[in-house]
Amino acid sequence: MTTKPEKPIMLFDLPSAQKAIGQEKFLESFKAILNHGGYAQGPECTQLEEKLASYSGAKNCLTCSSGTDALILALMAWGVKSGDAVYVPSFTFVATAEAVAFLGATPVFVDSDPDTFNMDVNDLKKAIEETKTQGKLTPKAIISVDIFGSPVDYDAISAVAKENNMKFLSDAAQSYGSSYNGKKIGSSALCDMTATSFYPTKPLACYGDGGAVFCNTDEEFALLKSCRVHGMSTEDKYDNLRLGLTGRMDSFQAAVILHKLSIFDKEMKDRETIGRYYHKNMPAAYKTQKILDGAQSAWAIYTILSDNREALMNHLKECGVPFASFYPRPVHTQTAYQMYNTRKLPVCETLAKQVVSLPMHPYLTQQEQDYILSCLADFASKTKAA
Ligand SMILES: Cc1ncc(COP(=O)(O)O)c(C=O)c1O
Repeated sequence: MTTKPEKPIMLFDLPSAQKAIGQEKFLESFKAILNHGGYAQGPECTQLEEKLASYSGAKNCLTCSSGTDALILALMAWGVKSGDAVYVPSFTFVATAEAVAFLGATPVFVDSDPDTFNMDVNDLKKAIEETKTQGKLTPKAIISVDIFGSPVDYDAISAVAKENNMKFLSDAAQSYGSSYNGKKIGSSALCDMTATSFYPTKPLACYGDGGAVFCNTDEEFALLKSCRVHGMSTEDKYDNLRLGLTGRMDSFQAAVILHKLSIFDKEMKDRETIGRYYHKNMPAAYKTQKILDGAQSAWAIYTILSDNREALMNHLKECGVPFASFYPRPVHTQTAYQMYNTRKLPVCETLAKQVVSLPMHPYLTQQEQDYILSCLADFASKTKAA
């Protein structure tokens, strides 16, 4: 066994980024906001939108209140409503499906690929055909999720969306900073719109709630802006043209993200090194997530599969290795989603029974990683011998 590190290992490490940037830089920006008084959707938010659009290669970026609201705003801009079918994976955080149901549309759950853990494109095609045969709903949009930060097969999903005259929204809440065939996630070249989250544990994070939508046309951008503030008209601010949200970002969060951007590329490089080290040295008893050729993951969460999860979790606890289980309950099996539980999703259900998520952040040391890997190897050899 590798020697146990002296300091407790962290599942996510939020304080280190703050140290790397320097608290005084955040405080200076907060003071500037207190002085100018533009607290909600202030100048920091506009500056962030410009920086993120250029970073991702997107025509436009709209900052907003959370990743969930980013998804809702994108669907609102497309007029998604009751009677529309929106195809989503069930092996995801609940918000992906929630955004669809919130607008009265129907989330149609799609099974997962057993290797990438992302949406299974063949099952997506099957689900669309089923909807067409049933004739009750209109196939309107696909929301893919780059689960754990690893990009989906954007080309394949894009082709399915085009063939069926549907919109393609990427839920990139976990994958901002990753890339697919040399294009950054959020790029206008990959899909119709991208939504992301800046929740504190995400790769690019603020210190509260925040999100963004990337879109490809000025018309969509205008609609998103209107929906962000109650459906407001640009000509008369007391005339609301459509339903909308209180979806603004606050300027303090935008200031945090602007500082985080200054170390983001370095953090992404370190995440890549750490993710690849886990992949290379993971004992064969555990299945790891396949990253597509040509794709780079944001390594937001590092999740392995174990067919002896409960015992492994107990072992990790004894070793002092923090862990989580993302996600132990597929969305279609959750109480509020029973009415949408209409399709068989065997791969997704198996994944949910086997997932164990390990410490993953850019400040994880090699000694910590070696210790975690040796705990995993120790458990694998004990269970093999038993
Ligand atoms: C895949 C996915 N979609 C959407 C969200 C929602 O983001 P937020 O928490 O910012 O609303 C999350 C957050 O965890 C997520 O992981």
